[in-house]
Amino acid sequence: MADFIERVAVVTGASAGIGLACARMLAEGGARVVVNARRAGRLDELVEIDPQRIKPVPGDAAEPKVIHGMLDAARELGGRETDLVIANAGRGLRGSPLDSDEAEWEDVLRINTLAAAKLMRASIARMMAEVGDYDGPPKQPRDVVVLGSTVGRNLSPFSSFYGAAKAAVHMMAEAMRREAGPRGIRVTTIEPGVVASEFQSAAGYDPKAFGEFMASMAPVLTPEDVARSILFACGQPAGVHLNEIMLRPTRQAYP
Ligand SMILES: NC(=O)c1ccc[n+]([C@@H]2O[C@H](COP(=O)([O-])OP(=O)(O)OC[C@H]3O[C@@H](n4cnc5c(N)ncnc54)[C@H](OP(=O)(O)O)[C@@H]3O)[C@@H](O)[C@H]2O)c1
Repeated sequence: MADFIERVAVVTGASAGIGLACARMLAEGGARVVVNARRAGRLDELVEIDPQRIKPVPGDAAEPKVIHGMLDAARELGGRETDLVIANAGRGLRGSPLDSDEAEWEDVLRINTLAAAKLMRASIARMMAEVGDYDGPPKQPRDVVVLGSTVGRNLSPFSSFYGAAKAAVHMMAEAMRREAGPRGIRVTTIEPGVVASEFQSAAGYDPKAFGEFMASMAPVLTPEDVARSILFACGQPAGVHLNEIMLRPTRQAYP
């Protein structure tokens, strides 16, 4: 793995699953890392790994105050703007647009789509301001990564409303990539298939039916499998952009 000693990172949804694995690996690789999630106690446990290099900003990742709080904390921690943002916080929702719980729709769109877009936009603006009017080859890697999903590309039999929120994320990230890439900023979409985490229970999947689905393709991905792919993309030389990664358990035929 590339080392991340020079990097100043922000990771949302770092209290569990993929975000936690990313934050741990970045810290192990030498990065300074700002971590966010709503469960502050879990973030405090993460900070224990290295209180000098990991700073918590607890709160709802969709709130502008929290978004700017994370970016300010990164600037304080690193002495310059963040150069590695992972917009990871998210949640699933059982069901399709016809049979999912409509009362949950706003929250699903708010955290998966709007929170990710706001953090991406705010962090790209700061990165661009730091780059200034320099328009040569990028001197250092700057990354903004967002978690999409295989179900943002392929209709899910379990969660197609959530899939629609992820499809929007893919399109937004591609739009931002086109604008930010020429300024040396890499906007990368990561699209995992089935990953065993707290995601399944938060989404309200039927444990028996989804458990059987997962067993049919075992072993499913671990959060660490996804984090390794994210860090692989961010560890490329500044002039190389691996801008989309779809990764599945080998035995996942669909979605
Ligand atoms: N697991 C999968 O199969 C899978 C597949 C494809 C894509 N993904 C995507 O990957 C990302 C991570 O999922 P995961 O599998 O790691 O799920 P997870 O284990 O449930 O973790 C989700 C994380 O997001 C945080 N979070 C949720 N709502 C938040 C909010 N409003 N503000 C701040 N943090 C919030 C949670 O922390 P708190 O509850 O403490 O706030 C938690 O740390 C999500 O975007 C998900 O959609 C997952």
